[in-house]
Amino acid sequence: FSRKHGVSGAGPADAEIMLIGEGPGFHENETGIPFVGGSGRFLDELLESIGLQREEIFVGNVIKCRPPGNRDPHADELAACNPYLERQIAVINPKVIVTLGRFSMAKFLPDAKISEVHGQAMNIKGRLIVAMYHTAAALHQRSLRPVLEADFAKLPGLIAQAEKAPEFIGNENKVENQSAPEQLSMF
Ligand code: URA
Repeated sequence: FSRKHGVSGAGPADAEIMLIGEGPGFHENETGIPFVGGSGRFLDELLESIGLQREEIFVGNVIKCRPPGNRDPHADELAACNPYLERQIAVINPKVIVTLGRFSMAKFLPDAKISEVHGQAMNIKGRLIVAMYHTAAALHQRSLRPVLEADFAKLPGLIAQAEKAPEFIGNENKVENQSAPEQLSMF
C-alpha cells in the first residue's frame, strides 16, 4: 500500500465555501494536508484573486487516500469514500460547493461535460454547485488557466445571488433531476 497519510480535508467546520478536489497527490500523501503541492499553490492564488484566504474555506477531496502512482480513482474507491464526504457536506452545510475536476463534478453531475458546465451555478438537491476545471489540469494545459481565473472571478457574485435566495441553500429535500441539471435562470 502506498498510502502514508489519509487526507480527510481541512478548514473551518462552518465554512461557507467548500471546495472538493479529486484526491491526495504526492505532497498531500506525505503531509496529510489537502492541496499543498503545485496545484494547491495555484489554488491559493485563485482564492487570493477574489479576496479569500485558504483558512476561510473548507478544502476536501472525493478520494481520501492517494491512488498508487497517481492513477485515476476507481469506482469502488470513490464509493468507499463517498459516505465520509457526504457527512462532511452535511455537517459543514456550505453555501456553495465548488468542484475541481471531473471526478468531483461527477459526484453531483454524473452526465455533465466539464467543458459545458464549468463556471455555472447549478441547483443540485437545493444546493449551489459550481463545477470548475482542476487546478492541476490548468497547470498542464495553459489555455485552461484564464478559464479557471474567469470562473473563480464569478464566484463572489454567484454566492451573493444565492444569499438573496435563501430557500436555495441547505434544502436537502428539494430533489432535482440530477441527470438533467437546470441552470438557474436567476443567475
Ligand atoms: N489535487 C487534488 O485533487 N487534491 C489534493 O488534495 C491535491 C491535489
